[in-house]
Amino acid sequence: MVKATVIGAAGGIGQPLSLLLKQNTLITDLALYDVVNSPGVAADISHINTPSVVKGYLPPDGGLEKALKGADIVVIPAGVPRKPGMTRDDLFNINASIVRDIAVGIAAHAPKAFVLVISNPVNSTVPICAEVLKKKGVYDPKRLFGVTTLDVVRASTFVAEAAGQPTDSLKFKIPVIGGHSGVTIVPLLSQTSPSVSLDQSTVESLTNRIQFGGDEVVKAKDGAGSATLSMAFAGARFASAVLEAASGKGSSQPEYAYVDLTSESGGKEVASAIGASPAYFSVPVTLGPNGVEKIHGLGKVNDYEQGLIKKAVEDLDGNISKGVSFVESSK
Ligand code: NAI
Repeated sequence: MVKATVIGAAGGIGQPLSLLLKQNTLITDLALYDVVNSPGVAADISHINTPSVVKGYLPPDGGLEKALKGADIVVIPAGVPRKPGMTRDDLFNINASIVRDIAVGIAAHAPKAFVLVISNPVNSTVPICAEVLKKKGVYDPKRLFGVTTLDVVRASTFVAEAAGQPTDSLKFKIPVIGGHSGVTIVPLLSQTSPSVSLDQSTVESLTNRIQFGGDEVVKAKDGAGSATLSMAFAGARFASAVLEAASGKGSSQPEYAYVDLTSESGGKEVASAIGASPAYFSVPVTLGPNGVEKIHGLGKVNDYEQGLIKKAVEDLDGNISKGVSFVESSK
């Protein structure tokens, strides 16, 4: 029996993500929580003839507690998205307290769940979650993930296009490390597999496109939000990987996620490779029954990519301390 809970299930990401999770046959209970409209989304999705039983929850009458109780995995796309001209950090003031309060609920009602944070700014909301769970004495760093899969998904699509093979995007694997915001997103294009020959100016423009790919969507939606459908795809893909690994059928292919580098011994090597800080970084991880099983090294990184990592680390340090201080200063 596997219970999955989506928090923010009626939103732009939450609805298609819930739909995709309904197609995951490992899930037997699908709990959809939101501050609005979740019963309607649940009623709609519940008619699909896949195994999971779907229920919708609203805040009154302990809705959050009921949605979280016994959850094995909690996926969080709750909060506000960007509008044109906004950075992910601009969302901090609203989303920080939303994520903090959800983390309090997780600590009380689903302390052993895998927690997948989608709400931006991920660079800060993951430390917020971690600090709350630490305060409540239930923090397991192997079970907390910032979802950066969309950056990996975008990288393969954009590289396939640049290589003149747009229909082959599935085959291109590109490590994307760092954080999930602008220059903190670091694609390691030199490690593209299968290898492609790209001149330096193409590398630079591709790097920029992967770092700021989200802006293309924000601009095209023209005030109606940010990436929702591609994010739902990426979130469902990562949730499936976590659940498959939990069921003992994990893949040998690493996944990329923003995790606490102290969660596993390999994290120390990554920390020293990037300059001993920050505490959280998106890295290649092997997932197992208890979450992060192994943090892999970053492989051979060229000078250009070292420069990108340096810039990413500078920004990340600030994003992380902002999240940590927010929880410290909260009542
Ligand atoms: P949206 O506004 O369409 O949906 C957010 C949902 O959260 C709404 O239904 C809202 O009612 C709900 N919500 C607000 N406060 C809540 C609370 N306290 N508890 C439960 N639900 C609550 O936004 P969208 O487009 O779905 O984006 C959600 C978040 O995901 C944003 O922060 C966005 O920046 C982020 N995002 C993250 C990405 C990533 O790669 N990690 C990619 C794209 C967006």
